[in-house]
Amino acid sequence: MPLVTTKDMFEKSMKEHFAIGAFNVNNMEIIQGIVDAAAKENSPVILQASSSAIKYARIEYLIKMVEAALQEYDIPVALHLDHGADFETCKMCIDNGFSSVMIDGSKYDFEENVEITKKVVDYAHNKGVVVEAELGKLAGIEDEVKVGAEDAMYTDPDQAKEFVDRTGCDSLAIAIGTSHGAYKFKGEAKLRFDILQKVKEKLPQTPIVLHGASTVIPELVEMCNKYGGNIPGAKGVPDEMLHQASLSGVSKINVDTDLRLAMTAAIRKIFTEDPSVFDPRKYMLPARELITETVQHKIRDVFGSSNKT
Ligand code: G3H
Ligand code: 13P
Ligand code: ZN
Repeated sequence: MPLVTTKDMFEKSMKEHFAIGAFNVNNMEIIQGIVDAAAKENSPVILQASSSAIKYARIEYLIKMVEAALQEYDIPVALHLDHGADFETCKMCIDNGFSSVMIDGSKYDFEENVEITKKVVDYAHNKGVVVEAELGKLAGIEDEVKVGAEDAMYTDPDQAKEFVDRTGCDSLAIAIGTSHGAYKFKGEAKLRFDILQKVKEKLPQTPIVLHGASTVIPELVEMCNKYGGNIPGAKGVPDEMLHQASLSGVSKINVDTDLRLAMTAAIRKIFTEDPSVFDPRKYMLPARELITETVQHKIRDVFGSSNKT
């Protein structure tokens, strides 16, 4: 199946109340781990690359590896730019064949965000590419966009409606209490489902995106720590909340941190248990397998996108 945009998968997700996982990719094993899982679950999937991932892996390699995955499996796969910081980055990805881009104008004021988003939408739509935009600020560190916790700002539902009307963006990332990375909550995990509900009332036809949505899976954190890691006090969004989000109008759930934890945990285990190992395949294979297991769990048990191709 050729690369698809997110249009059809999002329409189905809104009609049938499930979410699609958008997983960050940086190398071959991560891509394979994710698509193996999506194929086993017969699920649509979004592979997303940040600017730093593109810099690391190089855009041609990323695209060719995704093309290889498309040859191997007959499931809907979208290739998405995560947190595009400016028009030029979005244009580069569109021109190189990405099917979806995010323009992250959340660091700007409302009018500037509208302006830059609209510029990307006009260019992208002309080429058949869809656009995700962001309104509201997440706490923590975004890709090349640092936002202090004190600046964290939930999305205003009325502004969200005006923003989508004026920009024509295809999906909207909102801030309801998630944040990027492994340290999302100091105390209890809390998401503002009331804001999500108000946004959906104003924008029933707009797919909503949740960034910073890793669970920070406790078993993976424990495994990292058990085998020499040092990630104390890590905490994410519990599976039950993500499941609730996927039933409540969230169409795309972004996951990076959990994949990083899975890969690191598997590699740490091998290195600790057998210090004589130095063949990369001996530790990259279990790393890829643990990514597959992690992604399958999310698709099947949390997001509900199994058999939704
Ligand atoms: O939201 C940010 C993603 O986790 C990507 O992170 O810029 O380190 O690739 P990165
Ligand atoms: P996590 O850090 O929670 O995995 O969020 C990833 C993300 O939002 C990528 O855009
Ligand atoms: Zn993000």
